[in-house]
Amino acid sequence: MRKTLILSFCLLCMTAMGQKSKSTTVSELWLDEMGANKIETGWSISQANKSIDSNPLTVGGVKYERGIGTHAISKVLLNLNGTASKFSALVGVDDEVKSAAASMEFYVLCDRKVVFRSGVMKKGDAAKEINVNLKGVQQLALLVTDANDGISFDHADWLNARIAYAKNKPTIAGIASQKPYILTPKPSVSPRINGARITGATPGKPFLYHIAATGNSPITFSAEGLPEGLTLDKETGIISGKADQEGEYIVKVTARNEVGTATRAMKIVIGKNKLALTPPMGWNSWNCWGLSVSAEKVKASADAMVSSGLINHGWTYMNIDDGWEAPERAANGDIVCNDKFPDMKQLCDYVHAKGLKIGIYSSPGRLTCGGYLGSLNHEQQDADMYAKWGIDYLKYDWCSYGEEFDKTDKSHAEYVKPYTTMKNALAAQNRDIVHSLCQYGMDNVWEWGSTTGQLWRTTGDITDTWQSMSDIGFSQTQNTQYARPGSWNDPDMLVVGKVGWGPSLHATRLTPDEQYTHISLWALLASPLLIGGDMSQMDEFTLSLLTNDEVLDINQDPLGKQAVCVSKQNGKEVWVKELEDGSKAVGLFNRGDNTNVADLFNWAQKESVSTGIKINWSELNISGKQQIRNVWSQKNIAIQDQAFETAVPLHGVVLVRISPVR
Ligand code: GAL
Repeated sequence: MRKTLILSFCLLCMTAMGQKSKSTTVSELWLDEMGANKIETGWSISQANKSIDSNPLTVGGVKYERGIGTHAISKVLLNLNGTASKFSALVGVDDEVKSAAASMEFYVLCDRKVVFRSGVMKKGDAAKEINVNLKGVQQLALLVTDANDGISFDHADWLNARIAYAKNKPTIAGIASQKPYILTPKPSVSPRINGARITGATPGKPFLYHIAATGNSPITFSAEGLPEGLTLDKETGIISGKADQEGEYIVKVTARNEVGTATRAMKIVIGKNKLALTPPMGWNSWNCWGLSVSAEKVKASADAMVSSGLINHGWTYMNIDDGWEAPERAANGDIVCNDKFPDMKQLCDYVHAKGLKIGIYSSPGRLTCGGYLGSLNHEQQDADMYAKWGIDYLKYDWCSYGEEFDKTDKSHAEYVKPYTTMKNALAAQNRDIVHSLCQYGMDNVWEWGSTTGQLWRTTGDITDTWQSMSDIGFSQTQNTQYARPGSWNDPDMLVVGKVGWGPSLHATRLTPDEQYTHISLWALLASPLLIGGDMSQMDEFTLSLLTNDEVLDINQDPLGKQAVCVSKQNGKEVWVKELEDGSKAVGLFNRGDNTNVADLFNWAQKESVSTGIKINWSELNISGKQQIRNVWSQKNIAIQDQAFETAVPLHGVVLVRISPVR
């Protein structure tokens, strides 16, 4: 660890009497000492005194000892508290970049005002010098944009970056500038039945459904109208068994405790191709544990799914991502687990006993993206093994399949082929296994994904930054019409709670407002909801985001429609999702004005950045008196007959449900 370089000098300040002298200590704090990993980067994680690819910092052929390597779009907001005097640095594109496509622009902002702009910088350009006077400045923002041509190869360096300050040591603002605030009301003590109102299974294959219910325990359950072959455990609320007879069964489910009774009608559909009739909800190991996932961690996560109460809101799947496979197959070609997963069958049984389901991960290629064994030429054998273990869900990730694909004519059929092969292998099993395609949206996967599986990733990987989450979420427009029960667009997993993609975790870098946007948008988009944070470290705020049953009801609505954007203007967007009961879920989002780079930051002074957003009934195709219900606070807030208007914080959302007053 480097020591802060202290420059001390005396300022001779003559008092009015002209007799006394005072000294002010000016210290220098280097950006690389402030916690590089807290800087938002568009790709990977920043480290002190290294490029984003972990090489020595080098720009324009010159090596620099100190600084921070980032990747556009990157940003950091620093609290100065008015006692800093100068920011100095050099900036440029790191020489490690091989492609000439790298182009970016560096900005420095003081209290929302742009005070330095580098102009577009390219590979090979000499570093540009920055000297900014910080007198009286409260917050300093450093930004690297992609110069509007995408972030490919944008390895951006802040070199010799340092701040001279007098009293208060500058700090990275992180999300501290906005305190978490909880909108979700506590569940009532009397029972409420939550979760999916429709579920399906193939005739003759094992059925498992846990009736999610909140309220004081113990709760006892009953169900009328179950298809033959299914039974309910009255204490746990788990419905299991095998139903042979195809059909749609309306089941009257009741939950009772000492305080009251709740009843709800749900639909069980027994038939072919009836999996994932609502977007899958659960947890996936990747965004927290990355390749360091282990059976112990999955067990602890399943335990936490129950002890945190999340299971009572419909959360179901426990999905193991990459990192479970042994380096070699058995002599007969069977896939084998590595030492971190000593007994996969036992793990599956453990998860099932809680009424939860379990997922696994593989690639159609030779290797997975993490370099583990893929399923190439072993598809049937792997599917057989998954079924033997008791797996319910497979995420099938393209990764090194590119090697095979490159040998072909690269036609549409070649994109579909690996997923059809696995679909058939899964269908041949004696249990239902949901097929989740992961190939990042290639060949407009939404147009054909449903012929091979139930959900498909539509983009590259998400990370825990506003840029990443909002770019992905708000770009889900061309695939809208393909979302329906059993077929879902997947804009990737949730980045809430403690994330890290490896052994060490950090709190998501999304602010509370941004997290409300994330969950509201994913609910509106009918996206699969897979929690990416560590289940065993859920704080109260994160739990409140994930246990709002009215928000989850929007996501799980049986109609299965994906929201559309009906109005978009200067960073204000209104998205609308049609619901089964004829009402509309409406998200009013304030993305900020993209042409104003200041809006990319969460400045301490917030008042000025709430924006009024209005939606007219004509834009919603409705008329007359409508009840407006705030979904997060679960309160009716107004009756309006023409339009609804509300203030929305920067990067935040107001999510309402609008229904006709009868
Ligand atoms: C990526 C995929 C991630 C994760 C990772 C595992 O390709 O998009 O979600 O599964 O591979 O190596």
